Amino acid sequence: MSEDDKKQRAGGYHGGAVETVISVEAVTAQAAAIAQDVSNEDLLNLAGNDPYLSIDNLNAGYGRMEILHNINLHVARKQSLCLIGPNGAGKSTILHAIFGFNDIFSGAIRIGDGANKREIGAMSPSSKLKEAGIAYILQDKSVFPGMTVEENLWMGGFLKDKPAEAKEAAEKVFDKYPRLAARRKHQAKVLSGGERRLLEISRALVMNPEILLVDEPSIGLEPRFIDMVFDILRDLQEVEGKTILMVEQNAKKGLEFADLGYVLVSGEVAIAGKGDDLLENPDVGRLFLGG
Ligand SMILES: Nc1ncnc2c1ncn2[C@@H]1O[C@H](COP(=O)(O)OP(=O)(O)O)[C@@H](O)[C@H]1O
Ligand SMILES: [Mg+2]
Repeated sequence: MSEDDKKQRAGGYHGGAVETVISVEAVTAQAAAIAQDVSNEDLLNLAGNDPYLSIDNLNAGYGRMEILHNINLHVARKQSLCLIGPNGAGKSTILHAIFGFNDIFSGAIRIGDGANKREIGAMSPSSKLKEAGIAYILQDKSVFPGMTVEENLWMGGFLKDKPAEAKEAAEKVFDKYPRLAARRKHQAKVLSGGERRLLEISRALVMNPEILLVDEPSIGLEPRFIDMVFDILRDLQEVEGKTILMVEQNAKKGLEFADLGYVLVSGEVAIAGKGDDLLENPDVGRLFLGG
């Protein structure tokens, strides 16, 4: 990693005109210093005491290395939650843990309404997608460049019992996004950055998931496409009723979008609140919003 890569603009990568540049290590140290005592009760309250996705006392990591320490997280149905924090804090690792891409040492991950909760920690990623309704939208490079747009969508339905069902679901996606329909016979590699992100998101929609795990939807996009992507996600939350758990390096955009925000520091939840409240929080502003 180059010295430049290690340094993070105080406002996040796309935070605007911020002159101060501080290292990831300094952000992490300062963020740790402003950490609050976040109780599980506070987090449940933020989810209206009716969580649909819950993480309880999760310790997880890679191999024998523990990255996440005693994480609690709650998000209600049709709510959105954005994780922000310094590079390496463990934000993506939370999404990985939910989808089953890493090692869970202890704790529980449950989804479902009310008392109807189901522990999903031991399910395979494919059952999570097929049975539990959880989709993981990767940051970048997950479309097959040599395949057409429609072939990419059909791939999104590879877990369906019948190929015809995947094609049907793909048609629904095309009805919803004419922009993608116009490009259906084109190879994915000729799409613009914004269209490609739309394809990544809509490929996940082919399985009609309830929960979308979205890692850095704005990364690598030109500003006009960033707004488009957040509009798409807002529609999926508000119109289609999806529950969204997002990681976003562009903290301002992420917190403006999401109902709730957690600041993750060194594998622990340091601050949690409504997105709007975090935008007003001077410590969050100084460290992550370039304020
Ligand atoms: N596949 C992996 N194997 C081992 N360590 C990993 C892996 N992915 C991430 N890590 C480590 O886990 C920590 C948290 O990473 P990550 O969750 O990607 O952070 P963030 O998304 O907040 O930037 C980092 O120290 C990183 O080096
Ligand atoms: Mg990450």
